Amino acid sequence: MKRTLIKQVLASTEPSDTLRVQGWVRTRRDAKGVSFLELNDGSCLSNLQVVVDPAVSVDLAAFTTGSAAEVEGRLVPSPAAGQAWELQATRLHLIGPADAGYPLQKKGHSLEFLRTIAHLRPRSNLFGAVFRTRSRLAHAGHQFFQERDFFYIHTPIITTSDCEGAGEMFRVTTLKGSLEGDPQADFFGRRAYLTVSGQLEAETFACALSNVYTFGPTFRAENSNTARHAAEFWMIEPEMAFCDLAEDMDLAEEFVRAMARYTLDHCAEDLKFFARFVDRGIEDRLRFVADRTFERIPYAEAIRILEQSGRAFEYPVQAGRNLQSEHERYLTEDHCQRPVTVFNYPREIKPFYMRRNDDGATVAAMDVLVPGIGEVIGGSQREERLDPLREAMAFHQLPEDDYAWYLDLRRFGTVPHAGFGLGFERLLMFLTGVGNIRDVIPFARTPGSADF
Ligand code: 4AD
Ligand code: MG
Repeated sequence: MKRTLIKQVLASTEPSDTLRVQGWVRTRRDAKGVSFLELNDGSCLSNLQVVVDPAVSVDLAAFTTGSAAEVEGRLVPSPAAGQAWELQATRLHLIGPADAGYPLQKKGHSLEFLRTIAHLRPRSNLFGAVFRTRSRLAHAGHQFFQERDFFYIHTPIITTSDCEGAGEMFRVTTLKGSLEGDPQADFFGRRAYLTVSGQLEAETFACALSNVYTFGPTFRAENSNTARHAAEFWMIEPEMAFCDLAEDMDLAEEFVRAMARYTLDHCAEDLKFFARFVDRGIEDRLRFVADRTFERIPYAEAIRILEQSGRAFEYPVQAGRNLQSEHERYLTEDHCQRPVTVFNYPREIKPFYMRRNDDGATVAAMDVLVPGIGEVIGGSQREERLDPLREAMAFHQLPEDDYAWYLDLRRFGTVPHAGFGLGFERLLMFLTGVGNIRDVIPFARTPGSADF
């Protein structure tokens, strides 16, 4: 008999005489003359209630919390409240026992504790819900771009260029001993790193296939121990040829709205769980975001708003400087009370590849800020003119030799183009209400921590 996933069992429209399910025992309750097992196989949040009467000959004591079990039985309407079906066991088989040391006993655990058992936490309600949602949103992201005729490009993970120019790269090397030796003796014959962004490589493909995107792991050796920074995270990076900053912002905002809509439509059961245990307002917030245009304000105006806010920020607001997370959150949470896109930043604080505006002082950059998180997307129109790009590289002290191929794009059939990068974990935090990036990625890599 084939196994049926509990998700399908619970969606049944009629009783069944022969069903076989497999999963992990969440709890067992022994009543007079009958026992109840709550079985979960991760296919959905809900457990299947299994009813075992004494006619089934089995040592029930072995079916402890955490053990793996197989059940055959009859699916019948459940008299209990809150569930349509229950399974009356005709045969029960223990697949894998779990002793009393199983850490996920019924009581609630702190998120901090659950991080220390990241190999078992997917079996908890919260993390099951988070990672089902993560999977569905990864699919939704692909669907969003594929439906719009974007091609998925697998940009390299090992790279020799520092896209963001922030010097936050992890070195990849097979050198033994000192790393300061001759880079030519190293595996690639030069210094190599883990990528911080697939953008530069994606640009080469946009300048051939028009609309492309990447979706992959990126790495940053920035020593920020915050709830929204990880050393390894996933980024979605669309890149469009024949596209300017305004169209780039349109797409970025549409993407965030579409992901909010998708979560409401396709992750309803898990979302209800988040609303109950993580963030009570999450469903209303997603509906609000899905239905509304975002605010848009130039950087200079954002600075004025912050200066006039009367807020005592930890980091003072200063024109020409980067917005701190507290500034971003004031703009989106308090001032606009909705997502807001800030654009046209000073050129000094942005990477070399952004297109210089006619004012000479700002670049065509944009950041999408959302409540509770701050920056979820960073993007720009790219500098497609050869000479201004070379000037920008000199300004940022980048050697032209290393970027010869990137400059070639401006020599051969150059076109206006633009794109953005969305931090997938930050999007998940926004859509689930989960407050720490460590809890939306399966195995978090952060300063001082790379367990599992
Ligand atoms: O703003 P960033 O640095 O932009 C880029 O990397 C561009 N090359 C993207 C592009 O235009 N194609 O990063 C983009 C997004 C941020 O908005 C943020 O959501 C996320 O990536 N991000 C991080 N997420 C988690 N941990 C970190 N350390 C992150 N750094 C950036
Ligand atoms: Mg950024």
